[in-house]
Amino acid sequence: MIKFLDLQKLNLAYQEQFQEKMKLVLDKGWFILGDEVKSFESNFARYCNAKYCIGVGNGLDALVLLFKAYIQLGKLQKGDEVIVPANTYIASVLAVLQADLVPVLVEPKLETYNLNPDLIEAKITSKTKAILPVHLYGQLCEMDKINAIANKHNLLVIEDAAQAHGVFNNQQSTIDNQQSSAAYSFYPGKNLGALGDGGAITTNDDELAKVLFSLRNYGSEKKYHNQFVGVNSRLDELQAAFLNVKLPNLDTDNENRRAIAKRYLSEIKNDKIILPQWDFSANHVFHLFVIRTKNRYDLQEYLLQNKIETVIHYPIPPHKQEAFPEWNHLSFPITEKIHNEVLSLPISPVMTDDEVSFVIEILNNY
Ligand SMILES: Cc1ncc(COP(=O)(O)O)c(C=O)c1O
Repeated sequence: MIKFLDLQKLNLAYQEQFQEKMKLVLDKGWFILGDEVKSFESNFARYCNAKYCIGVGNGLDALVLLFKAYIQLGKLQKGDEVIVPANTYIASVLAVLQADLVPVLVEPKLETYNLNPDLIEAKITSKTKAILPVHLYGQLCEMDKINAIANKHNLLVIEDAAQAHGVFNNQQSTIDNQQSSAAYSFYPGKNLGALGDGGAITTNDDELAKVLFSLRNYGSEKKYHNQFVGVNSRLDELQAAFLNVKLPNLDTDNENRRAIAKRYLSEIKNDKIILPQWDFSANHVFHLFVIRTKNRYDLQEYLLQNKIETVIHYPIPPHKQEAFPEWNHLSFPITEKIHNEVLSLPISPVMTDDEVSFVIEILNNY
């Protein structure tokens, strides 16, 4: 069976280094916000060309805490509207709601699956205060256009980079101004994955970072002194240690993902399959390789019979979820089309050339 993502193989490669790190942490006996978290925060900030990295419990919390920090700083108020892509993982929408803000859904482009900048301005009202671009499947959103709209309307830009570690604009962090920040997830299946939950925020904003370091830790900078109504969402010391081991390989891993994507794009030739658009110059870290087809359950079953595992990201868009009955009547035709047709092929840094060739051969015979 070609697994969709072989997490065991991926992580067993680091077994010895992980064990050394576990011993180190055990020997030190310091388990919360210790040296490993501190060094990961400085390593990941440097990697992202950002001034600060704040390690938190998971990617959803990274987004929620960002919104809450902006509220604390008076840059957002409860009830403000945030532009969110209609085509995203549910976490992007949940984060806005959990911060008592109002998500305003905007259609993506069918070709890139990412937020369509040309449709944003029509949705801006006097209550709109932020845009949440999601670099879905690992592809950078059209940040130049999005940042220009944000500047024109004085909006914050909060990037959901949970699927996009290493996706930078011409090697520069996309968070290139004081009005921006990005949220990451280290869920095990991500391009930089921990051995459990983890997340982080990157920013260049001194004030924002200060509030975030406090908010994630009970709203406290000094033990037992609470400035804010904070939460307990700290990046775990052991997970930070494992991430410190894996981070140096992230660029190579992303390069391997791109190499597989290039083969899929040039060698899959089947009229029934629509390949993702990637013009090679735009940055993409291929967290997922997502194709579209009219009858995806049929294709999925065919692939399974040929021992190839696939996953659907995602079968139901946020506005059609049972959790949001008040949105179920809304119509976002492009988003719905994407959710009806997508299928994610296996892609990972540990896939062999033979496995990639086999997936291509089976798809071409479909
Ligand atoms: C686009 C997006 N945003 C946010 C998240 C939330 O991350 P986590 O699962 O670490 O909470 C995810 C993760 O699945 C995601 O894919």
